[in-house]
Amino acid sequence: MSHTICAIPGDGIGREVIPAAVAVLQAAVPDLRVEWADSGFETLERTGEALPARTLQLVEGTAATLFGAVSSPLQPTPGYESAILALRRRLDLYACVRPVRGFAPASHADLIVVRENTEDLYGGGEESDGQRAVARRVITRAASQRVAHLAFGLARRLGRRRVTIVHKATVLPKTCGLFREAVLEVARDFPEIAVDEMLVDSAALRLATQPASFDVILTTNLFGDILSDLATMHAGGLGLAPSANLGDRAAVFEPVHGSAPDIAGQGIANPLGAILAGAMLLDHIGEHAAAAAVRAAVTATVTGPTRTPDLGGAATTGEVTQAISYQLMADG
Ligand code: IPM
Ligand code: MG
Repeated sequence: MSHTICAIPGDGIGREVIPAAVAVLQAAVPDLRVEWADSGFETLERTGEALPARTLQLVEGTAATLFGAVSSPLQPTPGYESAILALRRRLDLYACVRPVRGFAPASHADLIVVRENTEDLYGGGEESDGQRAVARRVITRAASQRVAHLAFGLARRLGRRRVTIVHKATVLPKTCGLFREAVLEVARDFPEIAVDEMLVDSAALRLATQPASFDVILTTNLFGDILSDLATMHAGGLGLAPSANLGDRAAVFEPVHGSAPDIAGQGIANPLGAILAGAMLLDHIGEHAAAAAVRAAVTATVTGPTRTPDLGGAATTGEVTQAISYQLMADG
């Protein structure tokens, strides 16, 4: 069956890595159809909206979406909300799944961070009178349970053995305590999967020093944001890390990195994070053989001579993309 996916380049290097990843996906699945859609800060400046209705319709109406990155102003800008946060909220993409696999031979990391993606300090409700600023942290049993179901279900499907709940319930007994309690309730339905827990500060140190001691990490939104960037150090860097935003209505796959305005337009952005996000997308739409082929081509490229500057090479985005496509053709 031929699939239609949606591709949203966004801002900055998103416009370089998403066309690159789409080219690779089309090399892997020749009849894949692609609808291109706009979003981000540049879209806001041009059209008055960061997330146009057509984009939302395509994200919901296609089999899956590949999303690049969007820029956000650091100063409060009336009418602007980060388009990826808006997408997650509008389409209720309640789980963010970030696998970390070490490509370097010395790395033994093979873990997945599952992050609650809709609430916590990301739920909105920040206020300031210039002297006192307050952010509201909302945690609900329902959202904690559904992300836990997804995490344990994923662990079961992938044959993972342990889920570690990361929280700070010692200091935040109400919010983190509720998350912890809700997750432990769900864990009872998955008796074959061990469950343990760790405070977020200890978890950060352990993640930096002993990544192989983790299997699946399940945590709240902001902790997950921080820990998942940290974990990418074991994948060979931020440029190699993919992620999935999953809900019941849509699935949006994106590299973990941002729009990187400092290197945008130079043709040197590493496309491998976006390409690996594309491999996750292929698995999601049932193209498992193509997904495995893309991953194998990435593995061969990462250890070969054609690498972008962030990985110590001197290759361009286009050269890496071409190397992957040749590899796919050689394997196919
Ligand atoms: C991520 C990013 C986003 C987040 C930003 C761009 C809003 O850091 O996907 O991890 O904090 O969730
Ligand atoms: Mg982040």
